[in-house]
Amino acid sequence: MTAERTLVLVKPDAMQRGLAGTILQRLEGRGLRLVGLKLTRIDEPLARRHYAEHEGKPFFADLVAYITSSPVVAAVFEGADAVAAVRASVGATNPAKAAAGTIRGDFGLETGRNLVHASDGPESGERETALFFAPAELIAWTRDADRWISENP
Ligand code: RTP
Ligand code: MG
Repeated sequence: MTAERTLVLVKPDAMQRGLAGTILQRLEGRGLRLVGLKLTRIDEPLARRHYAEHEGKPFFADLVAYITSSPVVAAVFEGADAVAAVRASVGATNPAKAAAGTIRGDFGLETGRNLVHASDGPESGERETALFFAPAELIAWTRDADRWISENP
């Protein structure tokens, strides 16, 4: 069990559909701790840096256009195995194939409108957090409920 940080983006389609609160609620409800939160606009340079691993792929231009098309909510969640926990709650990249009960499986139909981003590993969690948040914007805190969420908080 490792404490990790992961970056979540409520993507433009979810913002336009009024699903920001629902998405954050699902992750907060698992017991993950919010340590960073903001409403922001992703400009093209940030989109390219954030999704740099996909540069050159056929869907890259559409992905940049999509992620810059409306403001997004950026959130950093912290907790034991936070990266895997959030990816499991988010569901498969293609919402049509995502399990019911996941965010994508419950609210989406197409890969190009899949509602939410989540870091895919602990290193990307740290890298992506640093792209969206200055160190002073991240809040270290504990909750009284932590001992009811973890045996060893
Ligand atoms: P994300 O990075 O946004 O959390 O999504 P992911 O890990 O589940 O999927 P990834 O492979 O990293 O792809 C990033 C985003 O690019 C769009 N995409 N479109 N048309 C396509 O074939 C295609 N493939 C990927 C999706 O918005 C995907 O979430
Ligand atoms: Mg990804």
